[in-house]
Amino acid sequence: MVRIGALVSGRGSNLQAIVDAGARRELNAQVVVVISNVADAYALERARAHRIDALFVNHRDFPDRAAFEARLIGELDAHEVGLVCLAGFMRILSPVFVRHYPLRIMNIHPALLPAFAGFYGHHVHEAVLKSGARFSGCTVHFVTEEVDGGPIVVQRVVPVLGCDTPDELAARVLVEEHKAYVEAIRLFAAGALDVDGKRVKVRE
Ligand code: GRF
Repeated sequence: MVRIGALVSGRGSNLQAIVDAGARRELNAQVVVVISNVADAYALERARAHRIDALFVNHRDFPDRAAFEARLIGELDAHEVGLVCLAGFMRILSPVFVRHYPLRIMNIHPALLPAFAGFYGHHVHEAVLKSGARFSGCTVHFVTEEVDGGPIVVQRVVPVLGCDTPDELAARVLVEEHKAYVEAIRLFAAGALDVDGKRVKVRE
């Protein structure tokens, strides 16, 4: 059983999808701790409702990023986490943190990487609409030192409609995010992922 630590900053709908899939026994994995850098993140309430350890760690309480991350690492390691899932976590993680969990951190990005890397939140969907792209989607990738540049595990595609607003596109992508994250974790927990540079081979 892979023990998951989730880092969150907001709503937590991806966290919810992962927890629900675990409860349905679709995953050989379980969320054991949820850490938020935002006190009133709804994700923390979701965790508490499922009796999952839910911690608020305020990055502003630390002198620098290294000290904040040392605290995160302390909590994650105390929970013997084997996979860190970033699920709407709005802080960039330093190389020190990333190297502590090599190919053990996943993130979800609400676009088809490597296009639209570096954008976050509604800015991603605005950029997609502005670009005129006919398709968007989501990407679950391993986190490396290159922001939004790690090996891609799962992508799911949605159409972009001519009349879409950023919110409408975001909602269509979000439905696929929930499926993509669960699938990526399922593959990871099954030991089915081989990483070769930027490429991920899925063993059947
Ligand atoms: C998602 O759109 C995800 O792609 C992005 O942040 C959002 C988090 O949503 N990284 P939620 O908190 O999981 O509902």
